[in-house]
Amino acid sequence: MSTDATRGNSSPSAEAPAHLRGAAPLPFTQIHSLALAPGGERRADVLRSAYRAIAAIDGGEIAAWLALGEGALSSRTVRPRYLKRMPSFAGDVLDPAQSHGDLLLHITGSSAAAVRQATEGALRALPHQQALWRTDGFRPENRIEDGQGLARNPFHFTEGHGNPATEAAVTDRAIIKAGQGEPSWAVGGSYQVIRIIRLATDFWDRDTIPEQERIIGRRRNGRWLDGTPNTERAVFATDPHGKITPLDAHVRRASPNPRAPAPLVRRSYNYDRGPDDQGLIFSCFQSDLEKGFEAVQHRLQGEAMAKYTLTTGGGYFFVPPPGDGWLQALTEQ
Ligand code: HEM
Repeated sequence: MSTDATRGNSSPSAEAPAHLRGAAPLPFTQIHSLALAPGGERRADVLRSAYRAIAAIDGGEIAAWLALGEGALSSRTVRPRYLKRMPSFAGDVLDPAQSHGDLLLHITGSSAAAVRQATEGALRALPHQQALWRTDGFRPENRIEDGQGLARNPFHFTEGHGNPATEAAVTDRAIIKAGQGEPSWAVGGSYQVIRIIRLATDFWDRDTIPEQERIIGRRRNGRWLDGTPNTERAVFATDPHGKITPLDAHVRRASPNPRAPAPLVRRSYNYDRGPDDQGLIFSCFQSDLEKGFEAVQHRLQGEAMAKYTLTTGGGYFFVPPPGDGWLQALTEQ
């Protein structure tokens, strides 16, 4: 066993950027995400209006933030190094009706009604914009344990144990620092990846709980299969042939090295659009898209869980740093 150095008590900070406020300790339970594709000459105006609209609703009972798709940046902008259109990974069936977009508005809160009202307020400030796609998400059993925000996903497993538990560790994984080779306007921002993943819950529920736990590589409550408590990390090197934790288990593929957990912060929400379309709005933040999401996604190829999942949407986005310095850098050219 090894103790995760990122663990400890966290203190909530009102200063944290909206997308990470609550990553430690607790995200709001409801989210509405809405993608726009303003394009063309109005791009700069729409960016300014969207920034103002989000700033007007963010705070208190609502945490709202804006994320930029690659199409939000003009050809003269110095771009974040890894910002591109999300590729289609093996097995993906990306539906254009819920993929990509130039601007993504995320509005989160503790009640669906408050989120709806805040969203309507933001859209009134963007009267000529039609949503390219939009989706609702929720986090059942949202709670804090040992400084970590946890929820229950549609496969009945606890989500969030692999996340860092202190604000400092969240920042370290998710926020771009100076000297990382990113444009100066982007320092303080984060890459955000969204994957809308349909989960075959009927098919999954036909497996026994021990079978499900071997596919994930943790118990439903987060405990590791070798008995390591969920607040520590299992060492897979003592189980080289995967007798206890199969080699194709989700967590073993996602983070094989207990001393170097995958450098990303996950903040997913469940979605439910009826019996045939339920799943996860997987979302993660990172300071380096290649070392974060892309490295993990490649390792997950061929995992045992793949036959229960289908990614149907999402995209690559960039959450700009707090304040409007980035806006000036992007629009005054
Ligand atoms: C298909 C839907 C998915 C489900 C149902 C799922 C479920 C889980 C569960 C139950 C855990 C263990 C608890 C925890 O640490 O939160 C976990 C961990 C993790 N998952 Fe997923 N996940 C999914 C997709 C993804 C994707 C698309 C990625 C990234 C490409 C990913 C990356 C990770 C990482 C990095 C960990 C933490 C591993 C660790 O450090 O121990 N997951 N996931």
